[in-house]
Amino acid sequence: MKRPNIAVLGATGVVGREILKVIEETKLPYNEIKLLSSAKSAGTEVEFMGKTLIVEEAKPESFVGVNIVLASAGASTSKALAPEIVKRGCVLIDNSSAFRMDENVPLVIAGVNDEDLKKHKGIVANPNCSTSQLMLVLKPLHQHAIMKRVIVSTYQSVSGAGIDAINELTENTRAVLNNEKFENKVFKKTIAFNVIPQIDVFCKNGYTKEEMKVTNETRKILHLEEDFPISCTAARVPVYRGHSEAVTIEFSQYMSAEMVRTILKNAYGVVVIDNPEKFEYPTACDSAGTNPVYVGRIREDLAFKNGISLWCVADNLLIGAALNTVRIAQRIASMGLY
Ligand SMILES: NC(=O)c1ccc[n+]([C@@H]2O[C@H](COP(=O)([O-])OP(=O)(O)OC[C@H]3O[C@@H](n4cnc5c(N)ncnc54)[C@H](OP(=O)(O)O)[C@@H]3O)[C@@H](O)[C@H]2O)c1
Repeated sequence: MKRPNIAVLGATGVVGREILKVIEETKLPYNEIKLLSSAKSAGTEVEFMGKTLIVEEAKPESFVGVNIVLASAGASTSKALAPEIVKRGCVLIDNSSAFRMDENVPLVIAGVNDEDLKKHKGIVANPNCSTSQLMLVLKPLHQHAIMKRVIVSTYQSVSGAGIDAINELTENTRAVLNNEKFENKVFKKTIAFNVIPQIDVFCKNGYTKEEMKVTNETRKILHLEEDFPISCTAARVPVYRGHSEAVTIEFSQYMSAEMVRTILKNAYGVVVIDNPEKFEYPTACDSAGTNPVYVGRIREDLAFKNGISLWCVADNLLIGAALNTVRIAQRIASMGLY
């Protein structure tokens, strides 16, 4: 396998820094690496694999000679730079929402729909963090018994909203504990000691954009019908890292809790921790800094015939962003798709 030249676009951001860690940990094979940001962070020194790398300002000519771009620089930057990147023959793996629902762009979770990578025309999109962890759980179950309906409630950590949101949770919490006034900027309501039932803006149908991302991206990744019934309620919780999800799935045939446990124990990227008698179930804190999607509280649902409810947690910065991006890069390289 020839080794690609890679560029990390948005290398100074929350996700970009995780991408660098994952490249190092997974030993992603590459020939040369380039770190790119906006003009603001150009010149920043970053320690990477025992060397000091200097971050450069991303310009169209930055992509000459690059084969794969791992991007997490926001939707407007991706939209602006994508034509320049593709024109220069690179494959763009994009973390933003810019191209996820574009019918010419594969939306991929590694280990779930790798075959879709073969259809890329220069851009591959990485799903929203809440969708990502859900896919690794739903795919193996759907392969066993066709899903008829899915209902998801998410409890999402603040790191999903970037560095300013992380800082706001700390400052807001300190202010509440010190009985001081605090004006929230990132969040619409107080995030300290609270749960906010809004992530992203509201759509005409009453759902938020974040909730519609889970619905639409799930249909696209799993190749479900355009009107497959999936409903999501997304909430922001005062947790730094790790998204939690309560998931109810109605199947077309009976699935016992034990069958689901067995399927998920053997599934790619999933770890089952499910022993309520000993208080063994996964929490967001358990997932922080680790790669798997953890599943517990698996039980037959009381509201649906052939229904299963479960609890699933994962690190939103890893499987929800950086880890999947690097896994896609690995596959693009090993499948000779650049
Ligand atoms: N956080 C998550 O859990 C998560 C999960 C999935 C997807 N995402 C997506 O990933 C993207 C980045 O998120 P984040 O949380 O890492 O944000 P962040 O911490 O704010 O980092 C943004 C990065 O993009 C760079 N950037 C901004 N404008 C640029 C421009 N015009 N040209 C080149 N680089 C530019 C920034 O460089 P400077 O340092 O120079 O400003 C920084 O490196 C977003 O699209 C987000 O929706 C995030």
